[in-house]
Amino acid sequence: MTKTKILIDCDPGHDDAVAILYAARHLDLLGVSTCHGNNSIENVTRNALSVLTLGKLDIPLAQGCAEPIAGPRLKPANAHGKSGLDGTDLPEPDRAPIDQHAVDFIIDTASAHRGELVLAIIGPSSNVALALKREPRLTSWLREITIMGGSTGLGNITPLAEFNVWADPEAAAVVFDSGVPIRMAGYNVTSRTGTNAEEIERLMAGGKVAHHIGELLRFYRMRQQQFFGLDIAPMHDVCAIIPYVHDNLIDYRHCHVGVELNGKLTRGMTVCDLRTLTEEGRAARGSGEPNALVAIETKARALIGHVVDTMLSYG
Ligand code: BDR
Ligand code: CA
Repeated sequence: MTKTKILIDCDPGHDDAVAILYAARHLDLLGVSTCHGNNSIENVTRNALSVLTLGKLDIPLAQGCAEPIAGPRLKPANAHGKSGLDGTDLPEPDRAPIDQHAVDFIIDTASAHRGELVLAIIGPSSNVALALKREPRLTSWLREITIMGGSTGLGNITPLAEFNVWADPEAAAVVFDSGVPIRMAGYNVTSRTGTNAEEIERLMAGGKVAHHIGELLRFYRMRQQQFFGLDIAPMHDVCAIIPYVHDNLIDYRHCHVGVELNGKLTRGMTVCDLRTLTEEGRAARGSGEPNALVAIETKARALIGHVVDTMLSYG
């Protein structure tokens, strides 16, 4: 089977680091681009370069937006520590970003692989929204957009908003309204899909890469315990990558997703129309044509087992 071609737009970020290493092992990872989010653009770019260096991955990286397309610049998300990737000492980057902005890199990569490229968004959607505005043909060039973001229910950064969508809601709205087929792994499933203490121990006892990932996930789990009383380190971002490796680990529903931009209490929320409307009901009361496959359930243990084994396989 030919490997899916994928480009990852990210903001490492503990779970972003795992997603990059996972994708590089199983898919044709054509590039990485960075976006503000978990930390400043400078820090997430340095973190992403360190992850590529750690995994000895010869993959181009383009730096992208330093702030949301409309709202003000954000403060770093505290779940990932001061550097955006606290908990271990990653190697110094052995390379620099390419000399091209992420927006152009995304457009050029999609143009070179028309109809084949899956674009994974595992941070805020700023780069991708700008790319869609700058090159409208992107909508037909992309095979699919897979996004870790939003939720069918509770959020993490506010009661109803998930961080990646909340961090640039206008950009997320551009993505969801773009007409590109979308696959959404939201907080409703990703918060329940994570590594437990035993799995983290296994990673720590592994080779160099696995050991660093184990240290990172130990830190991230501790933070999740502090904030949410969670017993796991949620592997949010890898849930957007998994379906291109294993198509049976996540169940989806096809429905309309809208991004709330105005609500005083609900800005950044994804409104997923999961009502079981009949055809007549949809015509009378539907919120719009289905625009996304929305993750409803994961086989969490199998999924995480596979991710842990992949990290261990780096040695
Ligand atoms: C998302 O926010 C970030 O902190 C994580 O890396 C993930 O992409 C989860 O809400
Ligand atoms: Ca992320």
